[in-house]
Amino acid sequence: MMLTIVLLLLCLQTHFTEHASINGANTLTKLDCTYQDARFGHIDLSKVGLKGGIPAFRHVLKDAYFYSYNPCYPFSEEPSCTNVAICQISKNGSAYYVLGVNSIVSWSITFDGKVTLVYSVVDRQTIVNLACSTEVDQLVINGEYELRHYNLTLYSKCACWNGC
Ligand SMILES: *[C@@H]1O[C@H](CO)[C@@H](O)[C@H](O)[C@H]1NC(C)=O
Ligand SMILES: *[C@@H]1O[C@H](CO)[C@@H](O)[C@H](O)[C@H]1NC(C)=O
Repeated sequence: MMLTIVLLLLCLQTHFTEHASINGANTLTKLDCTYQDARFGHIDLSKVGLKGGIPAFRHVLKDAYFYSYNPCYPFSEEPSCTNVAICQISKNGSAYYVLGVNSIVSWSITFDGKVTLVYSVVDRQTIVNLACSTEVDQLVINGEYELRHYNLTLYSKCACWNGC
């Protein structure tokens, strides 16, 4: 818990000090992209995220909302999701919410090597559980587990330690 908080603070600090240099859609933002761990190896999500400003997972429906997600490279869904990692759109198309940006992330690793990415924006938080899978990449929306806290699972070969 303490470690998570420290990591989050470090990430926030990095974000604020580097903010001026974060720009367009093709900029690799490493914070939600690669991770090194002395025990388990590395994780590299740069082949999961798409570079062209279009999310790898687009408009995945869960209950009353669509969710879009792209690790590593920001995308936009106008009017309200500009250069984001995760966007939520109401089914009726009238409300857009930013659920995460690629530059404000913490990695949480359990003792047995399970990884969760934690994206935080001012009023929302989204966890992306990484699930090692050899099938085609898939995003599952588990839902809103607390008010404005969202739970997603990314299935990918690249979610395996040393998988990509
Ligand atoms: C669209 O859906 C959102 C979320 O479900 C709701 O808050 C809003 O009132 C709806 N707007 C319209 C025009 O139906
Ligand atoms: C997120 O969803 C998964 C799959 O349903 C579940 O196992 C996990 O406990 C959930 N995490 C939280 C924090 O709710």
